[in-house]
Amino acid sequence: MEKIKFQLDDKDCVAVEGQMLVDAARDNGIYIPTLCNMHGVKPCGSCRVCTVKINGRYATACTTPVACGMDIESETEEIKEIRSALIELMFAEGNHYCPTCEMSGNCDLQAMGYKFGMMVPRFPYQFPNREVNTDCPHLIIDYNRCIRCKRCIRTIKDDQNKSYFAFVNRGDKIEVSIDKDMAATMPKELAELAMENCPVGAILVKEIGFKVPIGKRKYDLKPIGSDIEDKVNVIMEEVTNE
Ligand code: SF4
Ligand code: FES
Repeated sequence: MEKIKFQLDDKDCVAVEGQMLVDAARDNGIYIPTLCNMHGVKPCGSCRVCTVKINGRYATACTTPVACGMDIESETEEIKEIRSALIELMFAEGNHYCPTCEMSGNCDLQAMGYKFGMMVPRFPYQFPNREVNTDCPHLIIDYNRCIRCKRCIRTIKDDQNKSYFAFVNRGDKIEVSIDKDMAATMPKELAELAMENCPVGAILVKEIGFKVPIGKRKYDLKPIGSDIEDKVNVIMEEVTNE
């Protein structure tokens, strides 16, 4: 596979041609924030949190294949401000009560709020009136927290590759729904995977709560994205010590 060179925030980087920019950045030890994207899953570009500027034009890093000679801005004040506004919008648009959420400490949106130093969103809270669906044997689907990232739709499938989840309605009424018949026979392991893949607390498995205590969860221990940045720090240390 052909290797190409590009610049990311003035750092010289190397990637495999055609690799998506978020993945290429990760391989070079640079974290580009993402919410809807999942490593190894076809991107859908819905949240826009991975916005960067490529040769002066805005683009989403999860859906843009890297090409030779690209000059990319990611950690500039302008781009950080765009990402921050997007995160705030998501908090203001739904009902996110972190202190009572089972995903607190494991939630990508909450972790992103901390990363961007969010205090109070600049947008007015919408306080939408949304349901909590408890019909499925293993799952609770809380529409108050869904950010419509499609991760559940893209990853939770049966043996015939049919998705358990789908979008229904249009425009601002769009929401995730689960196929009732499929949900009735959904294996517990798949329900747990659905909860794990949801970047917020919109999909919860019934009868399991606080197995890992607050304070000991993923993002309680390390900020989001630090695993990618840490990898490069270890490599740099090894190079320096040689
Ligand atoms: S339920 Fe979760 S995974 Fe599915 S679209 Fe909503 S936020 Fe994304
Ligand atoms: S992570 Fe790229 S658009 Fe959501």
